[in-house]
Amino acid sequence: MVKPILVTGGTGDLGREVVRRLAAESRPVRIMSRRPRPSGTAHEWARCDLKTGDGLADAVDGVAAIIHCASTLGRGDEQVTRNLVEAARRAGSPHLVYISIVGIDVIRFFYYDEKLASEKVIEESGLPWTVLRATQFHDLVARASAAQRRLPVTFMPSGFRFQPVSTGDVADRLVALASGEPSGRVPDLGGPEVRDARDLAQAYQRSVGRRKPIVSLWLPGKAAKAFRAGGNLTPENATGKGTFEEFLAARV
Ligand SMILES: NC(=O)c1ccc[n+]([C@@H]2O[C@H](COP(=O)([O-])OP(=O)(O)OC[C@H]3O[C@@H](n4cnc5c(N)ncnc54)[C@H](OP(=O)(O)O)[C@@H]3O)[C@@H](O)[C@H]2O)c1
Repeated sequence: MVKPILVTGGTGDLGREVVRRLAAESRPVRIMSRRPRPSGTAHEWARCDLKTGDGLADAVDGVAAIIHCASTLGRGDEQVTRNLVEAARRAGSPHLVYISIVGIDVIRFFYYDEKLASEKVIEESGLPWTVLRATQFHDLVARASAAQRRLPVTFMPSGFRFQPVSTGDVADRLVALASGEPSGRVPDLGGPEVRDARDLAQAYQRSVGRRKPIVSLWLPGKAAKAFRAGGNLTPENATGKGTFEEFLAARV
């Protein structure tokens, strides 16, 4: 029997795309989630909480590889990854593929600190491992505007640029990496265009048929300074194909 690939965070924005691609290649998939198995899912389901470790031994049992997309958004990512690594070691040391974020080593921000610490846990785990860093997803950038839909203006951080990438492009890369040999840190994956935050907010407004002023907001602090310096960008790795406008058009 072919062993399944475990997708942690398989219910999330990126994880769902990973699951879709594995299924399209007829690869057996095991989705990890804290929620009960929904009716009608075609895949194996591992109900598990990576924070407490409940269900973890069963989740990693007999898997060919793990694509680790689960995230607590900075409220325990390091511990969650440590729990996963320890369980994976006990389960025969499958290849662990981790999705991380471009710039976590130059932007000091609590969530990024947790991602960096998680990378270190994986590097020192003794497991066969691969780590891919990606830029901000289209959805996250769109949400920054969508969250302000009731305001008369849209605030955008002044001097910030983004290189938004499609979760489909990231999922393609993760599936390819999980199918290959463990590769350590691989080249970063960035979206096809580096764009000003204002410009992205305008594109969002056009897509929803709205026009309102965009107000640039100067953010203080070291993290904001690092964003203004482009620490979140990887123009030399603009290998993602999907553009922000294509993402917005598909949403509508
Ligand atoms: N968003 C971005 O712009 C971006 C950019 C680069 C890299 N990344 C990385 O990509 C990954 C996926 O991001 P995303 O935006 O797709 O995430 P998301 O939609 O917020 O999904 C988070 C996932 O984590 C799972 N999860 C959370 N806490 C858990 C716990 N204690 N135990 C088990 N599962 C838990 C959730 O599963 P249940 O709720 O079903 O339990 C959910 O499937 C993250 O590692 C993130 O750091 C994101």
